[in-house]
Amino acid sequence: MRGGGKKCLKTFRFNIIHGAIFHIDMPILRSRQKLDISYIPSKVLCRDREIQILKTLVESGGKALISGEIGTGKTLLARYLFKESIYINCFVNRSEHAILESILSKVRPSFNPAGLPTRKLWEQIPDNTVIILDEIEGISLDDLNHFLYTLSRRSECGRRLKYIAITRDANILRQMIGDDATWSTFAEKAVIQLQPYNHNQMVEILNYRAQEALYEGTFDEDILSLIADIAMESRGHMRTAIDILRNSAILAEQKGKTKIEPEDVRETNLDTWIGNLDSLDKNHLLVLLSIAKACSNKAYTTLEDLKEHYFIECENHNIEPTDIEHLIPRLEAEGFISRRESDGKCALLIPSKIITKEIEENLEKIL
Ligand SMILES: Nc1ncnc2c1ncn2[C@@H]1O[C@H](COP(=O)(O)OP(=O)(O)OP(=O)(O)O)[C@@H](O)[C@H]1O
Ligand SMILES: [Mg+2]
Repeated sequence: MRGGGKKCLKTFRFNIIHGAIFHIDMPILRSRQKLDISYIPSKVLCRDREIQILKTLVESGGKALISGEIGTGKTLLARYLFKESIYINCFVNRSEHAILESILSKVRPSFNPAGLPTRKLWEQIPDNTVIILDEIEGISLDDLNHFLYTLSRRSECGRRLKYIAITRDANILRQMIGDDATWSTFAEKAVIQLQPYNHNQMVEILNYRAQEALYEGTFDEDILSLIADIAMESRGHMRTAIDILRNSAILAEQKGKTKIEPEDVRETNLDTWIGNLDSLDKNHLLVLLSIAKACSNKAYTTLEDLKEHYFIECENHNIEPTDIEHLIPRLEAEGFISRRESDGKCALLIPSKIITKEIEENLEKIL
């Protein structure tokens, strides 16, 4: 049962109008906007140390460079800590002039920068402005050095301007800059490296975000763990995790369900799945088929449960059973499944129905 009080109003299944009964979907999403990429949650979990360092660097030295892979929380950290700052995406504003124009449009909306040289634009930025420069590697190579040099020199002289720059890779950025003097004033001793979240951290973050955005009782811990399994395999990391959470909630809602089920999560992963069944031999196919069947209505299967399904499949297909544990790593490496370290349970990462059908067809061809 979902929570009581006001929320109960949302859980009426039917509405009777003039004697006819209309089905009303039970909503899963309390606030879709709270799972948008631009939303800033009221808490940022698992980054206490980094938040402290970022705060100290910007408050004392006026600058910081956040570096980390996709979806490690770089943009969120900067925006969460400096809510009053000016946010600029340097892939959108690629030249020094465009960046300065964009800053001025926010801090001095009545000022017209058209036709003025960049030197004049720098002069118009008020003291103590805090600027977030996201995806700083997006600045065109022609402008990068001059912009960063001027920016860091200005902040050095009286610390009138504070900045938080963000990049996916500080080493590549340093190579792009090329000049040691510019790098030194721009970011030396001010780099914060964000490590990717581990599985437990992802589940903790997902749990918090799901509680904020979804109704109580519409997801369980295995669902969040499955989302984390899929996201850990992806390049998008926490960004992917939040996308899957939102998309599987929407999908489950569209299907008229009252809670997210493992197959909803797996369906949202189909777009990015690139595994190839043709490369698997009959033993791997049979184990995968057994996992797919064991996971048809749950996120994970235990090894015992899996073995039971496997023996049935071997009998059905007239194949001699073998030790299945040594077959699992290959299926994991190909992205079909994931094995949870904490309890050894296996999760299926792609929809059970689809994979079952495809394996049955493949087995028919090779047996
Ligand atoms: N510690 C956290 N607590 C809560 N939500 C988080 C946390 N870290 C990341 N997120 C969420 O994960 C998603 C990705 O985070 P963010 O956009 O900040 O990553 P990024 O490192 O800037 O990625 P990219 O390199 O793709 O720009 C966002 O929806 C963000 O709100
Ligand atoms: Mg970002």
